[in-house]
Formats: sequence, structure tokens, C-alpha cells
Amino acid sequence: MAIDASDHITETNRNAWNAQRFDAWVAAFGSPEAEAAKIVAEPERVLRRLSPYLGDVAGKRICNVQGSHGRVAVALARLGAELLVIDFSEENRRFALALAKAAGVTIDYALCDIMEADNLGRAHTFDVLVLELGILHYHQDLDRFFATMRKLATDRGMLLLNEFHPVQRKLFWADGPHDYFQTDLIEADVPNPDIAGASLGRCLYRFWTMGDVLTAIIKAGFTITRLEEHPDWTDSTIPGSFTLVAHA
Ligand SMILES: C[S@@+](CC[C@H](N)C(=O)[O-])C[C@H]1O[C@@H](n2cnc3c(N)ncnc32)[C@H](O)[C@@H]1O
Repeated sequence: MAIDASDHITETNRNAWNAQRFDAWVAAFGSPEAEAAKIVAEPERVLRRLSPYLGDVAGKRICNVQGSHGRVAVALARLGAELLVIDFSEENRRFALALAKAAGVTIDYALCDIMEADNLGRAHTFDVLVLELGILHYHQDLDRFFATMRKLATDRGMLLLNEFHPVQRKLFWADGPHDYFQTDLIEADVPNPDIAGASLGRCLYRFWTMGDVLTAIIKAGFTITRLEEHPDWTDSTIPGSFTLVAHA
């Protein structure tokens, strides 16, 4: 894909993720102070999908890739991990840093396109990379994305990917392509925690097959050690999400 097309897609998505996003999180979670109090009281609630795979995180260096509002990062920091969030939304960063402050922890939050993470000077720094729910469909070059993940991870570092299942997104999601093998970009709303609310903006998504995802991870030099598929939250007869563990 030409560089300018890829830049256009990234800018479209960045604009959508900056539109009224701080206010959207406040409407969904309450103020950063209110949400921080809940995370401090029960960090495991936020981490319930990740904890079974993570083990003890105290003292670990963790990168929360596209970590959004920072709830996962703050919960991990409360459990003693050292956190860097990488995300390109300033509004997300504002919420995350206020959340961390109110929770009494420090997290680092790099505002950048994840594809430029090489330039952060953090090569081979992280024991664990955490990627949660709604990551891969922002990218048009999955090989380059996972090559970037490999550069961030230490040797033997863990990649923990909890993601929407390709079958759910491609075949069953209302705005999806309804064709498992379709490769075109799809324009659809940026996630809005108020599902009945007005659109906060439009994103350009590229949905990947399970084969695309696994192949890109292996090509980047990771060894996959676990892949679990989980039932969809509304229709338990189809896969809704999956969790993949791999090591560099
Ligand atoms: C659906 S969220 C991630 C899930 C997160 N657990 C949540 O609940 O919000 C997707 C995140 O990816 C970020 N993002 C999308 N494309 C990106 C890119 N190219 N570089 C950095 N961040 C990106 C968005 O800003 C957003 O915070």
C-alpha cells in the first residue's frame, strides 16, 4: 500500500479516537477519580480476561499496546508492574494519566502511532506486551505490526493478545464484511461506550482471518504456546474472542 494511503487511514482513525473521547470515558466510567477508586479496590476485575495468562506481574516491564483509557495499565501498575502505554489518542492519554494519578500509580504514556514505536528507543525492553480487544483491525500491514511487537519484546518476552475473533468480526458483526475472506477496508463508527449515542466519528478498519494473524505472529519470530477461543457474549454458539500467548 502506498505510504500516503496508509497515512490517510491512520489520520482518519486518530481523528476519530480524539473526538470527544475524554468525555465519552467520563460518561461511561465516571470521573477518573471515581473509576480509579474502583480499580484500586478491585484491580482483578479489569484484568479478568488477562490474569489467567499473566501470572504475577510485580516487577515486570509491561507495554500495553494501544492501551486507550489506561484502565488495564493502571490495574497492572497497582499490582506492581512498570507500565508503558503506547497509543495515538491525546484524549485517551488525558484520561489515562488522570486515572493513574487518582489511583496513586505512575504510568508512562507514549503518544504515537504504534507503527512508529521503533523510534521510542525502547527496543527489546518489555517482558510482556499486552494487547486487548480491538487492536489488529486498525492495521493494514500485519507483518509490519508484529515485527514492531517483536522489537519491543525482550528475548523470551511474552506477547499476550486478547482480541475479537475473526469469525465474529468478519461474519457476524453488523458493520463487518459478512465475508470471511474479504480484504477491503470497512468504514464504520469508532467504538462508543454509549451504544445508543450519536456517532463519535468514523474509522477505517481492515479485518484479518485467524490464518493471517497466526502467520504474521510466527513470521515475526514469536513461538505461539497457547490459543484459546471464547464464546461470543451474546451468542455462545459462535466464537466471540480469542486469547493467544506467544514468546519471542
Ligand atoms: C478499541 S481500543 C483498544 C481496546 C482498549 N482495551 C479499550 O477498551 O478501549 C483501540 C485503541 O487503539 C488505538 N489506536 C488505533 N490505531 C492506532 C495506531 N495506529 N497507533 C496507536 N494507537 C492506535 C486507539 O486510540 C484506541 O485507544
